[in-house]
Amino acid sequence: MSVWGTESWEGEEEEMLEKFRIDRNHITKDTVITVLSGAGISAESGIPTFRGSGGLWGDESLARIATPYGFAEDPERGWRFYDDRRKNMASAKPNPAHLILAELEEMGYDIVIITQNVDRLHQRAGSKKVIELHGTVWEFRCMNSRCELKPFENYEVPLSAIPPICEKCGNYLRPNVVFFEEPLELVDIQAADSRTKKTDLFLVVGTSGIVYPAAAYAQIAKFNGAYVVEFNIEKTPLSPFCDLSVLGPCGEMLPSFIREAICAGEK
Ligand code: OAD
Repeated sequence: MSVWGTESWEGEEEEMLEKFRIDRNHITKDTVITVLSGAGISAESGIPTFRGSGGLWGDESLARIATPYGFAEDPERGWRFYDDRRKNMASAKPNPAHLILAELEEMGYDIVIITQNVDRLHQRAGSKKVIELHGTVWEFRCMNSRCELKPFENYEVPLSAIPPICEKCGNYLRPNVVFFEEPLELVDIQAADSRTKKTDLFLVVGTSGIVYPAAAYAQIAKFNGAYVVEFNIEKTPLSPFCDLSVLGPCGEMLPSFIREAICAGEK
């Protein structure tokens, strides 16, 4: 594994840039590129991460809200938390890391993003092929699992009624996100799984790599022969599975890597 972006890296920089050039020669528009993104990619847009200093889950009562029982015991408190997150996310803008990924897709590269983020900043940047592994705060669904209401979009900020009510059965609605201890949607797991297994270049951006199954995709990609590059401000448990760790804020590092390693010849 190589590390780029640390002071200790300095001496090897030339070799690393050379490596970029070698890799770049192999990256074409047929190269299957997959990105696994986490909260760190949206940090520079002003959306707090979950762990680390200032992380949302540092407050245990907030972490409890993001469980099925914690939300159900007080839906009003739960919705106040999600209403605040929606306000924060609505005022946030995609940063250069989101934008460069959307640009690659626009340029015709075969790129799919598997995101753990619920903020939809990838889509707002222009990315179309996004698997929302943990759902999104911009959809609601009914808390009554027997209700036939399908998940639907809602972008009202702030919400006019808290908690919102299901018009079909009268129960409370909930955000269409995956809470702790809940299973992911099978269709998303299958899509992420099959994409990862055929990936040539796998980029792991701004995730602590400790929440599964998302974290497993970097390992599955590696075991299936992908070249795996991590972008983070620090090393993570996924670093040993990566061919290259690029340390530093991904809003700077990801665009510079992509311009240097992938699309240096593009206008
Ligand atoms: P975390 O909060 O666990 O980790 C954020 C990662 O981003 C950390 O590794 C940081 O070092 C890194 N980071 C922070 N700022 C960065 C920057 N500017 N550039 C690059 N990296 C940066 O967030 P996730 O890994 O997304 O799940 O957490 C995974 C899941 O845990 C979330 O989707 C959420 C949470 O519980 C659910 O709610 C189901």
